[in-house]
Amino acid sequence: MPGMTRPLTLLGIETSCDETAAAVIRLLPEGGVEILAEKVHTQLEEHAPYLGVVPEIAARAHAELVDKTVAAAMADAGITYSDLDAVAATSGPGLIGGVLVGMMTGKAVAQAAGKPFIAVNHLEGHALSPRLTHDCPFPYLLLLVSGGHCQFLEVRGLGDYHRLGSTIDDAAGEAFDKTAKLLGLGFPGGPAVERIGASGDPKAIDFPRPLLNRPGLEMSFAGLKTAVSRAAAAEPLTDTRMANVCASFQAAIVDVLSEKARRALAGFEPGDGQAKRFVVAGGVASNKAIRTGLESVAKGAGAVLIAPPLRHCTDNAAMIALAGAERLAGGLESEAGDLGAGARPRWPLDEAAAKSDPAYATGRRGAKA
Ligand code: KG4
Ligand code: ZN
Repeated sequence: MPGMTRPLTLLGIETSCDETAAAVIRLLPEGGVEILAEKVHTQLEEHAPYLGVVPEIAARAHAELVDKTVAAAMADAGITYSDLDAVAATSGPGLIGGVLVGMMTGKAVAQAAGKPFIAVNHLEGHALSPRLTHDCPFPYLLLLVSGGHCQFLEVRGLGDYHRLGSTIDDAAGEAFDKTAKLLGLGFPGGPAVERIGASGDPKAIDFPRPLLNRPGLEMSFAGLKTAVSRAAAAEPLTDTRMANVCASFQAAIVDVLSEKARRALAGFEPGDGQAKRFVVAGGVASNKAIRTGLESVAKGAGAVLIAPPLRHCTDNAAMIALAGAERLAGGLESEAGDLGAGARPRWPLDEAAAKSDPAYATGRRGAKA
């Protein structure tokens, strides 16, 4: 990192959805990151009976787990709180109860240790996540595709993100989860739909590809749910029919993401003879058909596809610690830190793009991005 004279060691805390996570990382002046410890508790069992994440249950589970998770990460890292340079925690966007738990914990630890607290935007964590393990210089194109997010971002530099397009309603992972719920396949839905669809015919049902032929990079997945429910009601749901519905639904998502990725890559010029880097992150990126589709699009565009390891694709605290460390190293944070920062349920990375979006509004009904 230019301007850095010594390593920076940070504790990161992530509690914005259903993962309670803590990690300790060290950002090195010569470039690169050492991950000293990573702990994550996924609240699958807590939410599975409800077939989705229940915000109140998530907040309570975070409150019960966060202290232990932080202590375990620090013990694993083998350092003391006084060895830290700062503490970073997700301060939005996300489920407000959980965000508050993580932020309060981060502020308390920072104050007790006499270190700065850094309020991190969860989406910035995702945007920087490939840099935990890969040599991934700015600028690069990012597709963030998970249960809570679905957007294309041009990551131009630290704190410089340009949102190229996003879903105007449900995230792709949310569509997988709703489809699975409708078909009685449990939660989380993505892996179940993929598994059952593996033996199905992706061309059996012609599901809509919303906004596919519209210019631009906006996406829409909410309508697919209705189409799936119609297909499920049209014929008895034999094993074959079920496999065909899953395979055809997945094919619709693959087509939309691939076509939008093709357009995004066509419009992305890194400049200075740099390689075109295309990063895919988020839980949905673990879907094989989606990954294969994106790999072939990247190849066609002469781009390098970077897929961070799954533990950094899904919600994790290492990316939050890294965002804090890069901010500190880049002088984007004051030495005093953000002790006064509040939790933000909505916090777009690219505020300008979000405000020009008709779906954007502040408050409860603001844009998901
Ligand atoms: O990134 P993630 O762990 O959490 C957030 O949403 O932030 O992503 C979880 C989402 C869920 O919606 C899940 O159904 C989806 O990723 N997912 C998948 C697969 N594995 C997880 N979707 C499709 N295929 C998969 N194999
Ligand atoms: Zn996330």
